[in-house]
Amino acid sequence: MYQQLFIPIEEHINKSYNIYFSDDFKKDWFDLLKNFRFTKNVLITDDNVFTYHKELIQTLANQLQPSKIIVRPKGEEYKHIKYTQEIYEDLIQYEVDRKSGIIAVGGGVIGDFAGFIASTLLRGIGFVQIPTTLLAMVDSSVGGKVAVNVDVGKNMIGSFYQPRVVLCSLAFLRTLPEKEWICGLAEMVKHALLKRNVYENFKKVVFNQPDYKTWDFELWNRLIYESIQVKAEVVSKDEKESGLRSILNLGHTVAHAIESLTNYKEFSHGEAVSRGLVTALLLSKKKFQLSDKIIEEVIQIMRLLKLPLDTANLKANEIAHHLIYDKKNQKGKIKYIYLKDIGNPVYDLELDIQDFLDAWMLQKDLFG
Ligand SMILES: NC(=O)c1ccc[n+]([C@@H]2O[C@H](COP(=O)([O-])OP(=O)(O)OC[C@H]3O[C@@H](n4cnc5c(N)ncnc54)[C@H](O)[C@@H]3O)[C@@H](O)[C@H]2O)c1
Repeated sequence: MYQQLFIPIEEHINKSYNIYFSDDFKKDWFDLLKNFRFTKNVLITDDNVFTYHKELIQTLANQLQPSKIIVRPKGEEYKHIKYTQEIYEDLIQYEVDRKSGIIAVGGGVIGDFAGFIASTLLRGIGFVQIPTTLLAMVDSSVGGKVAVNVDVGKNMIGSFYQPRVVLCSLAFLRTLPEKEWICGLAEMVKHALLKRNVYENFKKVVFNQPDYKTWDFELWNRLIYESIQVKAEVVSKDEKESGLRSILNLGHTVAHAIESLTNYKEFSHGEAVSRGLVTALLLSKKKFQLSDKIIEEVIQIMRLLKLPLDTANLKANEIAHHLIYDKKNQKGKIKYIYLKDIGNPVYDLELDIQDFLDAWMLQKDLFG
């Protein structure tokens, strides 16, 4: 099982790249990395991933000479800008030059953090993504958004910086903790909602074999491939989110408000996205008459995947406050992504705050 997906970036074809997929880290991927001829290879990972996958990471470092491994503490708090300076200084002392490369081996936190360093150090050095979580495979490693956090907001400092290649080995998923699956699955549901054929395939799999723990690698490979294709298609057409790319925020407006209200501590991103997707379905029914049949079907899929649908006792007006004061809003207007039908999202519309309050109350009545 070995697949390849080309990500063309339409406006800058020299930024296009491949994603390679396999059930294990392929021997020829070492050669592929060697062929970049990075003058220095800097592998950045976190302590969790390093503990589980030390052998592979050390083999990578041995094969790619000269090389250095940087092991960061795990967790979102270490994606803060204050930790970048020590890395810049370390790499400058290591005599990294513009032909050197950073290889991120980790989840979205490591990918975003290492990608941000790669995009800014010496005005940009080589960058490779080796995603190790389901979320990083289907979402964060593709699309070129890299960022770090500041005290007043998440992902506020960043850039668009495409990797030279993404190497996606499903073997990493063998060690993924239970709660991390939810994060990736929620994004897979979102991608499925954006494209009819992906949705139909995903639905068939979930209805026939609801327990994702029993899905074999071949099935995962196909589903991850299709899910990334949705994102890849969008990103190719609108790399810098001037319009279309915002459809990838389906369910995320409310999710971000939930995360911000709870200081990013109570819920994982996936748990917030899952609840935000339910709100998006209810708001889409009101605004665009999204059919009950579709809503029930999507809810059934999410239930079977054990994704949370409830309001977690969060108060509508408190979420509304975070929606209104989101730093990404323009002129106080809340941009919102609706769904007219499966595969037919609508972007660039505003959210009426009363509609949100009503939808949240309905979500509470329906799912607790
Ligand atoms: N750039 C983008 O387009 C984009 C898109 C979505 C999310 N993100 C960012 O991604 C981050 C979330 O990513 P995430 O969910 O991957 O979180 P993460 O990177 O924090 O990984 C989650 C946890 O799983 C551990 N882990 C990673 N791989 C493992 C493995 N194979 N086995 C065992 N444990 C493993 C990590 O150490 C961590 O504790 C957020 O910072 C978010 O802002 C970025």
